[in-house]
Amino acid sequence: MNTVLAGNPPAPSILSRTAIAAGGENRAEFAAAGASAKNDRMSVPANAMVSFEAVSKRFPANRSSAEVVALDAIELDVPRGSVTGIIGRSGAGKSTLIRLVNGLEKPSSGRVIVDGVDVAALGEDRLRDVRRSIGMVFQHFNLLSSRTAYQNIALPLEIAGVDRRVIEARVTPLLGLVGLTDKRDRYPSELSGGQKQRVGIARALATQPKLLLSDEATSALDPETTRSILALLKQINTELGLTVLLITHEMEVVKTVADQVAVIDRGAIVERGTTFDILSAPKHETTRALLAGLPSLRLPAFLAEQLRPEPSAGSRAVLRISFAGDSATQPILSRLGQVTGVEVNILAGAIDEIGGRPFGSLVVSIAGESKTLAKAEKHLAGQGLQTEVLGHVA
Ligand SMILES: Nc1ncnc2c1ncn2[C@@H]1O[C@H](COP(=O)(O)OP(=O)(O)OP(=O)(O)O)[C@@H](O)[C@H]1O
Ligand SMILES: [Mg+2]
Repeated sequence: MNTVLAGNPPAPSILSRTAIAAGGENRAEFAAAGASAKNDRMSVPANAMVSFEAVSKRFPANRSSAEVVALDAIELDVPRGSVTGIIGRSGAGKSTLIRLVNGLEKPSSGRVIVDGVDVAALGEDRLRDVRRSIGMVFQHFNLLSSRTAYQNIALPLEIAGVDRRVIEARVTPLLGLVGLTDKRDRYPSELSGGQKQRVGIARALATQPKLLLSDEATSALDPETTRSILALLKQINTELGLTVLLITHEMEVVKTVADQVAVIDRGAIVERGTTFDILSAPKHETTRALLAGLPSLRLPAFLAEQLRPEPSAGSRAVLRISFAGDSATQPILSRLGQVTGVEVNILAGAIDEIGGRPFGSLVVSIAGESKTLAKAEKHLAGQGLQTEVLGHVA
């Protein structure tokens, strides 16, 4: 499908370097950046599509509210050809971060470099060119109700003054790419949410961007439609070599589609790394809280209700044991019983996968005193497993 698009005349663009497919090199570099000390990067890595360099954004106080520090000293590289996820709670600064990339906002300090160009330093003309090389997909689709699917997709090209025949040659394969050839002449009111988002994605691709920004693109969709839209974004990433920067508050989105992830909390990046590493061994409390929403890690309601923070006479400790990679397939519990003599009950658990690698967790209860629990935790840590005491049940 990429050949269909590649056959069309290129959009005016200041972006010149070739996108490469996401690979191990990108992932390793991202992980290394996360592992190194903060704020120690001196120059933009050659393969970064977007680099945030000590970026802060403050919104000034007004009569009714104090100054807001929406972003604080953000250092982040989005590797070329990657799908990079930024996850955080409401108000964490995600949309502000993404608006800096296409120049809708300017940083209060620091620089946002997009394909080697400092976006905030550009005049209106060059900024327009950069925007044309960046596609954007929104939560509420932002389609024009008076235009058909075809006309919505064609809009950015019409605005750019592209010839009608060139528009036709560009939009028709895009309708095919997003699976809407038969909906070409339908209006938004005649389309489902998922179909509207497909129009939104095709419109974002119309100017043949190098970078696709997605701001909660699936938040208004049901889980099945979400999966199909995420699969489409991944397909676009691999087939067209497009770099995708997506922001979300849902760990499921990150898990499904992102190669790497940065966790943002109150305007600061608190954790980052490959998706597998972050999900299988979260370190920051915010990451853990966001992970708790994953269907495969969610505690059953009956158990959540019974959990108490402190032990009581005869209560059992509830422990989450996280599995990743090879450990997911090993007989961990029987070995725990044998080695420590600890009695273990399974309460809940699921094994999931990220990029074909198993990961998941088991929630178990352990009888006995704190000494028994400590023994079990020590044994599991010795096996390289992460454990977390969730509480106690009577
Ligand atoms: N134009 C503005 N003026 C003043 N404050 C703003 C402005 N835009 C955003 N903020 C504030 O900056 C902070 C970050 O907002 P932002 O929209 O980036 O959050 P978000 O992570 O996208 O949240 P959500 O998940 O709810 O969309 C919030 O406290 C918000 O109120
Ligand atoms: Mg937002």
